Amino acid sequence: MKHLLCLNDWTTEEIIHLLDLASKLKYELKNGIRHDHHLRGKTMGMIFTKSSTRTRVSFEVGMQQLGGYALFLSSADIQLGRGETVHDTAKTLSRYLDGIMIRTFKQQDVEELALYGSIPIINGLTDELHPCQILADLQTIREKKGALKGLKLAYVGDGNNVAHSLLIGCAKTGMNISVASPQGYTCSKKYTDMALKIAETTDSVIELTHDPMKAALNADVVYTDTWVSMGMEKEKEERMAIFAPYQVNSSLLASAKPDVIFMHCLPAYRGYEVTEEIIDGPCSVVFDEAENRLHAQKAVMVTLMSDSI
Ligand code: CP
Ligand code: NVA
Repeated sequence: MKHLLCLNDWTTEEIIHLLDLASKLKYELKNGIRHDHHLRGKTMGMIFTKSSTRTRVSFEVGMQQLGGYALFLSSADIQLGRGETVHDTAKTLSRYLDGIMIRTFKQQDVEELALYGSIPIINGLTDELHPCQILADLQTIREKKGALKGLKLAYVGDGNNVAHSLLIGCAKTGMNISVASPQGYTCSKKYTDMALKIAETTDSVIELTHDPMKAALNADVVYTDTWVSMGMEKEKEERMAIFAPYQVNSSLLASAKPDVIFMHCLPAYRGYEVTEEIIDGPCSVVFDEAENRLHAQKAVMVTLMSDSI
């Protein structure tokens, strides 16, 4: 039984294989080659206790393109939202479904779902991690740059779920990553140590700094995310002031490589973490990145749920 709870669950080879499958599925879709045999007759539940545009739509559409059916389970409607345990939910849903994608607050809940259930679990974002996003990001970088190993990605902003998964994804694929975040908002020790450990075997260089210019220096990719993640709305005002020097704008990008690409997982807040000029400008690949959620996640679902792979 395999899950996608954290990118560290997968080997470098498995990640590269997944990216190859994502590219193949993308090619097939664009060229009218049907691939709805992969998950014919399969049903996946999608539990959401947080909002989503990309994750919800790309998983649902992706499942349909693969011949299966995706069931939207809002926590406002299922008993989990009224206090039924993750344990009982996992055991019950395992009797009906072939897999579960879950977006929720606690990483521990996703891990418990995998522990007590008997079907593959996909992490669609927690407070700590966002692995599906980073698979789509790696696919996008590989498409734009032709390779991953040895490239430098600069992540500028909050040391959040996206930053944690980027640390792991870059370490796994031999990319170098520099994370610039303010004091008190750095990546957690747990995921920094995890990435440093992985990097020992892949020669990835991992740098943590408070200086956005240092991070962006000679970067091939500059990446940012919202300063106020879901669940942190109460800290909004305070965060806006603290993060202001971490905005991705043209003066920051001037220290990156001339062919730098700008990435953002979206949703974006123009004028805060990134200027309109950059996100809507020629180096931005944010909508390719959003599109690749579909292809990368289809590859995840085929890998975890297909009988023939
Ligand atoms: N990037 C991302 O996960 O977007 P949604 O919150 O819209 O799913
Ligand atoms: N860090 C953001 C990502 C949204 C896709 C959040 O958790 O809200």
